[in-house]
Amino acid sequence: MEQAEKQVQQNPTPLTVALDIGTTKICAVAGRLDKFGKLEILGVGKVASTGVNRGVVSNIEKTVSAIKEAIDTAEKASGTTFSAVHVGIAGQHIKSRQHRGILTRDNNHDEINQADIAKLITDMHKLVLPPGDKILHVIPQEFTVDSEQGITDPIGMSGVRLEANFHIITGQTSASSNIFRCVERAGLKAIDLTLEPIASAHAVLSDEEKEAGVALVDIGGGTTDLSIFKDGIIRHTAVIPFGGNAITGDIAEGCHVTKKNAEKLKVKFGSALADEIFENRIISINGINDRGHKEISERNLALIIQARVEEIFDFVLWEIKRSGYERGLIAGIVITGGGALLNHLDKLVEYHTSFN
Ligand SMILES: Nc1ncnc2c1ncn2[C@@H]1O[C@H](COP(=O)(O)OP(=O)(O)OP(=O)(O)O)[C@@H](O)[C@H]1O
Ligand SMILES: [Mg+2]
Repeated sequence: MEQAEKQVQQNPTPLTVALDIGTTKICAVAGRLDKFGKLEILGVGKVASTGVNRGVVSNIEKTVSAIKEAIDTAEKASGTTFSAVHVGIAGQHIKSRQHRGILTRDNNHDEINQADIAKLITDMHKLVLPPGDKILHVIPQEFTVDSEQGITDPIGMSGVRLEANFHIITGQTSASSNIFRCVERAGLKAIDLTLEPIASAHAVLSDEEKEAGVALVDIGGGTTDLSIFKDGIIRHTAVIPFGGNAITGDIAEGCHVTKKNAEKLKVKFGSALADEIFENRIISINGINDRGHKEISERNLALIIQARVEEIFDFVLWEIKRSGYERGLIAGIVITGGGALLNHLDKLVEYHTSFN
């Protein structure tokens, strides 16, 4: 038996590919788990995304061609061709809620088995949802067997009454069918659809952080995705409908520059904390239609950015409170996504939220 287990560990898993249909970029990553169970990335394809709005596909044609190009690059880099992909989903339409399921078992002499859990999960899929919504994930949280609470894995126990708390994630059917349509038109089959905040958490967080309690904030272009973990279990997920593009839009309006120049200003000179910037530093940038030069105060730029980042984190804090795990986040807030590259963001978040 031990020999067989070693054998399994020594073989890397087959190559597979995952697709992130983002607001600013479409990204295909080909990889596998190596013989030690670690993720090995063998090819990445990254293409600008123009057919996605706040995480939701708004132009099929543009999205299909970007998917094809991203997959093609990942295929060339990894030396493999793929017919099926794992796909992520996000967007404002995503909602999450808690629900409780109860199963009364006929025979308390038999051990609780996988079939009992599967039955509880199937029951969750029968929940009545708002029209146009569908269930994307049903994630078991904790179980109660008879009167014993707080059980993470009830398999093998005996008991008559099995209760479970579930974290249920729903999204608009039309948003997921558009993703499936794009993937199919790109000549691929979607193996599964994973909520982006869950996928980010898998990639970024350690088991220790998830155990201690942590909030992961993924600041993308169109949305900011939040996932909260405690005791190793996902407790809450939320998609906030603003991200880095909203910051860029504010700069364009506030400084009277094009979106393109606003993006440049943000990435090159931007700061999330105006107090860190000297009052008298001036940036010179081309005006609209390249007419003359505009002078912009670096501190004003930071004030514009700070206001929007604070607003985003007010939403994050509200969701953390709503989750009920405000006091349990021992590992604090972890920030990822393109927006996380903003200067002084970690300091601002620490001052504004009192989490670090
Ligand atoms: N150095 C930087 N400083 C500040 N912001 C940055 C920097 N680099 C990238 N960004 C911002 O990050 C955002 C893009 O992030 P990301 O690539 O994670 O988004 P996405 O996955 O395409 O979008 P979404 O997840 O919303 O669908 C853009 O708004 C971009 O301006
Ligand atoms: Mg993203």
